[in-house]
Amino acid sequence: MSEHQIQLTVNTRPVQASVEARMTLGDFLRSKAGYTGLHLACEHGVCGACTIIVDGLAVRSCLMFAVQADGAEVTTVEGVANADGTLHPVQQAMRECHALQCGFCTPGVVMTLASLTADDARPAADTMLKALSGHLCRCTGYQGIRKAIDKLAEAGTTGGRA
Ligand code: FES
Ligand code: FES
Repeated sequence: MSEHQIQLTVNTRPVQASVEARMTLGDFLRSKAGYTGLHLACEHGVCGACTIIVDGLAVRSCLMFAVQADGAEVTTVEGVANADGTLHPVQQAMRECHALQCGFCTPGVVMTLASLTADDARPAADTMLKALSGHLCRCTGYQGIRKAIDKLAEAGTTGGRA
């Protein structure tokens, strides 16, 4: 199987690797680059657990090949907190609202919300809710997640840096 050289930035760090053409970005990040914060579940774009940010957009990393990320700027949940170690506002809101139980879906939820709130964007609660319509959570009944969204919308700013 032929391999391809790729160079990308993950959580502001340069990463270079040789990958098979068929390797997904999610598999690459988890198994070759060590970013195990993203979770792989359905692996066909249905659950949202593998969501990361690629060049500012929320992307399902199970649906993108690693070679397609050559030259891209990638943020995973490991890189979403603030530089001083404090939680990203989305993480903080989810924590305060008990928006997770087992946590399997949580990295994907955080990254989708973080993508909406980058560059200090202030999305309405409805916009955030719609964006999460493609995320499955088996534990929370979504109530805590909805509360976190309301909290973010009420705060009027999220100060995201992703
Ligand atoms: S693992 Fe990618 S959407 Fe489910
Ligand atoms: S918190 Fe368990 S799947 Fe969402």
